[in-house]
Amino acid sequence: MRIDAVSIFPEFFDALDLSLIGKAQREGLLDLRRHQLRDFTVDRHRTVDDTPTGGGAGMVMTPEPWALALEHVLADAGRNPSPREDEPGQRHPAGEPPVLIVPTPAGELFTQRTAEELSEREHLVFAAGRYEGIDQRVTAWAGHHFEVRPMSIGDYVLNGGEVAIIVMVEAITRLLPGVLGNPESLEEESHADGLLEYPVYTKPAVWRGLEVPEILLSGNHARIEEHRREEQLLRTRRIRPDLYAKHIVAQEQAARREAEGD
Ligand SMILES: C[S@@+](CC[C@H](N)C(=O)[O-])C[C@H]1O[C@@H](n2cnc3c(N)ncnc32)[C@H](O)[C@@H]1O
Repeated sequence: MRIDAVSIFPEFFDALDLSLIGKAQREGLLDLRRHQLRDFTVDRHRTVDDTPTGGGAGMVMTPEPWALALEHVLADAGRNPSPREDEPGQRHPAGEPPVLIVPTPAGELFTQRTAEELSEREHLVFAAGRYEGIDQRVTAWAGHHFEVRPMSIGDYVLNGGEVAIIVMVEAITRLLPGVLGNPESLEEESHADGLLEYPVYTKPAVWRGLEVPEILLSGNHARIEEHRREEQLLRTRRIRPDLYAKHIVAQEQAARREAEGD
């Protein structure tokens, strides 16, 4: 998979050189390229922001450096960065377009399903906003070259898109074949089947007076599985009633379909 990340603070992405994602890069499973947005400015001060049109607080990222940076990424990936935008046939030339992910608290919520879906794509491009965000016309323009996905990592506001990008890149790339030592661990994790994971324990069996549930020491795998499923359901109902309700609805639908002989 190829990932390009554009930012005025590309140093943030150095965190992705550590641990399993760093190893994935060194092993060639992931080609992560970082770009300094200011390299695509044309003025002496390398300006990337201006006052909001219509007034208001803060600054807004100007569109032209973004277009130049994204055109550079397209050209570098071997795509024609400037097809005639009025020609419908030129929209998304040759093959699957790269996905442009624009982090924003005003975007679609990024979930494990989104991570799974994006892990199947060949080329992802991330655009880190700062200040009050990027001039809205950038996403309209980018739609001629990319599949554009404004994405939020949660209902809170960060200072910039870099940390959100690190979150998304890690969630997506750990799903790539070969990145995790034991891919089976993906199947049992929280959110894999819409529920939270059961509580986990390791040795010693008694630690500071606290015991692990006896059943986990029984060696009876069927009973252990049953116990873990119960714990999963209890924990999800207590901590995430929204997920639990969805799970119950999905189960009822599956039971109805089965009864109808689907
Ligand atoms: C201060 S925020 C801008 C907030 C924007 N004015 C608004 O109210 O929607 C600056 C940048 O941080 C990033 N950001 C902030 N919160 C985010 C979130 N929950 N998810 C993804 N990106 C976020 C985006 O890149 C955004 O452009």
